[in-house]
Amino acid sequence: MGEKENHQIAKSPNHSIGVVGAGTMGHGIAQVLVRHGFEVCLTDASEKFLKAGAERIARGLSRDVEKARLTEEERQQALGRLKTTTHLADLAAADLVIEAVTEDFEVKAGVFRSLDPICRPEAIFASNTSSISITRLAAQTKRPARFVGLHFFNPVPVMKLVEVVAGVQTAAETLQAAEDLARAVGKTPVRVNDFPGFVSNRVLMPMINEAVFCLMEGVADAKGIDDVMKLGMNHPMGPLELADLIGLDVCLDILKVLYESLRDPKYRPCPLLEKMVNAGWLGRKTARGFYEYAANKA
Ligand code: CAA
Repeated sequence: MGEKENHQIAKSPNHSIGVVGAGTMGHGIAQVLVRHGFEVCLTDASEKFLKAGAERIARGLSRDVEKARLTEEERQQALGRLKTTTHLADLAAADLVIEAVTEDFEVKAGVFRSLDPICRPEAIFASNTSSISITRLAAQTKRPARFVGLHFFNPVPVMKLVEVVAGVQTAAETLQAAEDLARAVGKTPVRVNDFPGFVSNRVLMPMINEAVFCLMEGVADAKGIDDVMKLGMNHPMGPLELADLIGLDVCLDILKVLYESLRDPKYRPCPLLEKMVNAGWLGRKTARGFYEYAANKA
């Protein structure tokens, strides 16, 4: 498939997109895609996660109707563009597959190795990884030139940025198609090269980690640390609140990637972060992280 054909993914919303993983990021990505006219097949190995993801999409689109950003008819049409399946084989006809599974190289690589013989050779593969090497993931497939990072941000319907990550093998037309897609769903793409953590997490995670060190060393309590960053630096959320939103396990995984791949002690994960993850206090999703949340608000 040449450049012209690739671009059509963004220009013809009839094209079908597979999204693998129905968790926080996967369901959010699927929601913005159907909202902007794309046919989406959302897949997850777990029937339970798939159902929960589809319910969250329906609720998210209802919110758009309440806020008069969408009519009820448009919401129904968007929901009509969403299919769910537990079988990767159902993505055979997809023009693009976006993977948003657990932030673990082996898990992601396994998904791509399974998808490679299922999908058409001209289909593009994208990973929503926050930190894992796109170059290394691409090398797991027979289509490294058609492999790209498409890094969305949480909450996906709200955040404007998509980091478009170029692996060393990624073709120029694949990058262009990824940028066109990001624009077609109302986002602003920023192209970055494949380095651990890209730009977003290379900068964000050391800040969050340092905030956890401040907490551990008693520089201030959690609220104090967050207030300093919100009131003094105009951040919408403090770093510890943000860590709770992202998930402490995800933050730890990203810090480990930075630490192990850049081999620099400045990325050493704070022991308190590791301790909290070991305790199962993962942030909002477990109703406890640096703060406690009512279970229904988590
Ligand atoms: N899911 C969907 N929508 C959400 C949401 C969520 N979890 N949280 C808030 N929103 C929506 C609200 O519904 C509201 O939309 P409406 O127009 O429908 O009212 C809008 O966002 C604003 O929300 P609020 O008025 O309740 O609150 P706010 O003004 O304080 O904004 C926020 C909330 C957008 C989350 C804001 O605090 C913010 O921008 N925080 C920083 C988020 C951030 O940095 N995200 C990136 C994390 S890093 C990442 O994702 C990548 C990675 O690799 C780890």
